[in-house]
Amino acid sequence: MIIRILVLGVLLIGINACDTSARKFPGNAAVASADPLATAAGMEVLALGGNAFDAAVAVAGALGVVEPAASGLGGGGFFLLYLAKTDEYRFVDAREVAPAAATRNMFLDDDGKPRKRASMDGPLAAGIPGEPAGLAYLSENFGTLPLSVTLAPAIRYAEEGFNISPRALLGLRFRKKSLLDSPAFATVFYPAGELPTEGDLIIQPDLANTYKRFAESGNDGFYKGETARLLVDGVRDAGGIWSLEDLATYAVVEREPTVFEYNGMRVVSAPPPSSGGVALAQMFKFLSAYPLDSLPVAQQVHYEIEAMRLAYRDRAVYMGDPDFVAMPLDRLLGEDYLQVHRQKVVSNQALASSSLEGIDTDGSEGRQTTHFSVLDKAGNRVSATITVNTWYGAGFIAPGTGVVLNNEMDDFSIKKGVPNEFGLIGDEANSIAAAKRPLSSMSPSFLESDRGIAIVGTPGGSRIITMVLQAALAWERGADAEEMVSQKRFHHQYLPDVVNYEPGAIDVADIELLQAMGHKLSESRRPFGNMNVVTWDYATNKVSSVTDPRGEGEGRVY
Ligand code: GLY
Repeated sequence: MIIRILVLGVLLIGINACDTSARKFPGNAAVASADPLATAAGMEVLALGGNAFDAAVAVAGALGVVEPAASGLGGGGFFLLYLAKTDEYRFVDAREVAPAAATRNMFLDDDGKPRKRASMDGPLAAGIPGEPAGLAYLSENFGTLPLSVTLAPAIRYAEEGFNISPRALLGLRFRKKSLLDSPAFATVFYPAGELPTEGDLIIQPDLANTYKRFAESGNDGFYKGETARLLVDGVRDAGGIWSLEDLATYAVVEREPTVFEYNGMRVVSAPPPSSGGVALAQMFKFLSAYPLDSLPVAQQVHYEIEAMRLAYRDRAVYMGDPDFVAMPLDRLLGEDYLQVHRQKVVSNQALASSSLEGIDTDGSEGRQTTHFSVLDKAGNRVSATITVNTWYGAGFIAPGTGVVLNNEMDDFSIKKGVPNEFGLIGDEANSIAAAKRPLSSMSPSFLESDRGIAIVGTPGGSRIITMVLQAALAWERGADAEEMVSQKRFHHQYLPDVVNYEPGAIDVADIELLQAMGHKLSESRRPFGNMNVVTWDYATNKVSSVTDPRGEGEGRVY
């Protein structure tokens, strides 16, 4: 039964943006994305007179060609928008949905045990893509240029090829099994049956044709007709369960963004089916009772960890697709609830996750997924996080399409307490059902205060939310875009009950203090995330566009 969410709560409804009418327009437009070619696509479209929404279509379209490990037409995502003219926030939910034939236990064997990698590899792992519908929606409702113009760079990159990067190769090494499982994937990404070498040209003629049909006919050019037929035939021939009806009925949903304030900073972020905005609101509200800035660093980190523990516990227990589950968001974000939790948190001792009533686990981080930020000269903004889930999604291309399919079905809770690829657990609220959206951590956000605005987000699986938390805390304390993207990060997600941190994120002396409090800490060998940020400083009217030193992206100001 579909239960529509009834109560969003005062924090989540109908709040207009800060009054920016008195502000000047930003002197410049800017794009920050995970790939220089995608940023160039955005710049190209801005130069043609396109606005931020046109540029976003161009950037997302290009990323689907040149960063196929992370996002593409076979995936989905969230687009947080600010419309300067009407001073409005909008949120376009282009998340994938489970196909109609999906069932709650589809990834379990006869003994009720999860089938190994069944929700990760091949077309059964793929939800019905939402990104094409998202791009068409942006273009039709907010853009000024047709898809034939905004997708022209993507089509060119697919036809002429792009040089494969070390990061893309890393993902291909990991996806080697697809060489056998998906001949169409192997043809593109393992030419001559082997892993390409760095700089090799990857040409994608089928993908170029898919983009052309989409550019020509919009939604119908992807969700109906030749592309839809090729997708469904390819999926079903390889054991998947998609139907033409699944594609034809896919629709984006506009939702109210999650909006809250912290110390004079307004945070606008992603509502359910992302857990990001609610978790951020809960963590910031929890932290607002502590004089963080005046505390020793170890103490600050301790309270941040406790905020993370609570937010990820509640994510696991309560959160899912708002069109299917009623979530007690008012209660989770209410002062009474937060105060009860604060009373359990003492200043010098870690709270054990096992002491919180929640879900037991039987059981990675991710830099897959991609985030880009756009600002135009009129002040319009886009904060977009888009994904095919893990490296190259399901590692599957339906023959003739060139489209890498997502493995977003793994973002559902395939069984209570069984961790997904990111170690996240869940329960009923995020169980699989036909046409349901899997719970996400993607958190495209705006930060606003008297000093200006920041457009922020990152990939990183379960760590996305805590990375955005730390970037927002840094910005609120006066950090610039450079500092936000380069600061070292730490993360806790309730279970496993461990604080992961990047080398240098926490001083040795503070690590010892935290250990003495009972926190378990583990240094991560792999970097966290790939954050791309655009800022506009009101005092100087300076626009900055900065990408994460951990990635290969480029920020440009136009
Ligand atoms: N696929 C990662 C997420 O949506 O959180």
